[in-house]
Parts: sequence; structure tokens; C-alpha cells
Amino acid sequence: MGNIPVAVLLSALILTTFTVSAETNPKFATVNPVPAAPKRAAEDMSLPMPNGLKGDIEKGRDFYMQNCFTCHGVTGAGDGPRAYFINPLPRDFLDETSRQYLNRPTLFEAISKGRNGSEMPAWGKVLNDQEIANVAEYVFQSFILDGKKGTGRSGK
Ligand code: HEC
Repeated sequence: MGNIPVAVLLSALILTTFTVSAETNPKFATVNPVPAAPKRAAEDMSLPMPNGLKGDIEKGRDFYMQNCFTCHGVTGAGDGPRAYFINPLPRDFLDETSRQYLNRPTLFEAISKGRNGSEMPAWGKVLNDQEIANVAEYVFQSFILDGKKGTGRSGK
């Protein structure tokens, strides 16, 4: 293969990559709506943390604002500065579906184990159970319970 076909191939590749990222980039959400969180069965939102743990919301907030906001956003809308570059997008905690299934045990489990096939890290590798409960409690109270409806990335 000569030099020119390679250049043509490369530019086609770059064009394809750009088109795909344009579709998933929340900056383009009004042009190409990003799908909301997958439909999940509603969970019991009154369930406590596992193992009798009680999260400290103040400590959880500190940790969230240092480690989670980069992807999930300061308001939990899934629109942090890193969100533009990753696929699938970080969970939008203000989304209607998130507010129906992300109860304390589900949050604890998701934060601890992460999400395979996405950039959501398994925080259980670096945090102990109490620290996970702290950040889970912060997400639960501030975004799931008190998040302003309709202000998430998906607008739902
Ligand atoms: C590098 C980016 C990134 C960081 C940092 C990050 N997350 Fe995530 N998170 C994601 C992505 C991407 C998803 C969505 C995965 C999916 O769609 O399956 C996600 C999903 C989640 C979910 C939802 C899982 C579900 O079942 O829907 C929770 C809860 C969560 N993250 C909490 C946190 C918390 C708390 C922190 C900080 C301790 C954090 N994340 C840090 C990228 C990140």
C-alpha cells in the first residue's frame, strides 16, 4: 500500500471516531439526545447500608468533590469535565431512573465493585467499607433524594 491510500484510510478513521464521539458527547446532547439510564425495576429506597454501616455525609462530600465530580459532576448530573471523553457516559444521578433504583445498598455495591466495561472504577480496591458508605450516603442524600429534578444531563 502506498502513502496516499494510507492517508485516506487514516482520515476516514478520524472522521468516524469524531462522528461517534459527537453522538455520545453531552455537549451535543440537544442535537443528539443521550439515552437516559437503562430502565431498571424500582427499588425500596428506605433500605439501609449493608453490614449495619452508617455513612458520614460530610466525609462523603469531601471525597466526592475530590474523586467523583470529575466524571459525575458537582451537581450529580453526570457532566463532569472528564465525562466528555468517556463512553458509556457516567451515570446521571438526577435522572428519573437513577432516582428509582440507586438506593443505599445498590450505591454501596456499585461504588465498591465499579462497572465492568466502563470507566467506573472499583473503589473497594482503595477504600474501606466505612469510606464507601460515606460517599454512598452523600450521593444518596444529595442527588438521589434532594437532586433537582429535570436538571440532569438527560433533562428528565
Ligand atoms: C473516570 C470516571 C468516573 C469516576 C472518577 C467515577 N465514576 Fe462512577 N461511573 C462512571 C461511569 C462511566 C458510570 C456508568 C457505567 C455504566 O453505564 O454502566 C458510572 C456509574 C456509577 C454509578 C451507578 C452504577 C449503576 O448501577 O447505575 C454510581 C453509583 C457511581 N458511578 C458512583 C461513583 C462515585 C461515588 C465515584 C467516586 C468515589 C465515582 N462514581 C467515580 C464513571 C466514573
